[in-house]
Amino acid sequence: MFKNFFQKAPNNIVVDTTDLDMNNIPQHIAIIMDGNGRWAKAQGKVRTYGHKAGAEVLKTIVRAADKIGVKVLTVYAFSTENWKRPLEEVNFIMDLLCLYLTKEIDEFNANNVQVRFIGTRQGMSEKVLEKMDYALEATKDNTGIILNIAVNYGSQLEIVEAVRKIAAQAAAGEIVAADIDEATIENNLYTAGLPAPDLLIRPGGDVRISNFLLWQIAYAEIYYTKTYWPDFKPEDLVDAIRVFQGRERRFGGLSD
Ligand code: FPP
Repeated sequence: MFKNFFQKAPNNIVVDTTDLDMNNIPQHIAIIMDGNGRWAKAQGKVRTYGHKAGAEVLKTIVRAADKIGVKVLTVYAFSTENWKRPLEEVNFIMDLLCLYLTKEIDEFNANNVQVRFIGTRQGMSEKVLEKMDYALEATKDNTGIILNIAVNYGSQLEIVEAVRKIAAQAAAGEIVAADIDEATIENNLYTAGLPAPDLLIRPGGDVRISNFLLWQIAYAEIYYTKTYWPDFKPEDLVDAIRVFQGRERRFGGLSD
């Protein structure tokens, strides 16, 4: 099933940034990689074929984002709700992730990509956790783009876990309730230390957030496209950034 899998992503990816303001590149882009199943079905293929294609596309988009100057790319690979899918599909995505994290390490290091993860480890198999830990360790000194992969991620659970941690700190007398503020919450989320996403991209045609980064996207610009994720190209990323740059971000304030 994974034969001939993970060819090297072309090193000579051309990204036309002519129309972009290079002084206003979103630092952090989050992507809901949606539409894999429908993309496969449209070609008379099984859904997993779409996930495989989606993983290949991710390699290209990481390169493109890096070339454009994006600092953090957070991608939704598997949600806490995705366990409801047929076991065969769940296992396929987990195997795909393992393969990705094994085969891509040299590429990550050659391109200075630092891999990180957000999500809960609970319920994940030892095998997948080992690969994740390995990728984390092997790329931790890279100083280029951060590829932050959301695996077994649910934003509501992330907030619940943050509250539990803060409650434990309060119970231990390390913090008092009146001192809890936005920064306290942020510092206890999986994304602690990362800037909030400036831009959230959802391919695949659906217009919803699907329990992704609910706290962190408070002021993100949201870009939807009907293009299925396996068809998503560097040009689509540039389009999304162009739209982002056309928006006026007021963060609750007023225009100048
Ligand atoms: C949503 O498409 C996609 C997923 C639930 C899985 C995303 C996984 C990948 C892109 C590949 C694995 C990732 C890595 C990092 C190797 P969908 O299945 O919901 O598509 P549909 O809406 O058309 O059914």
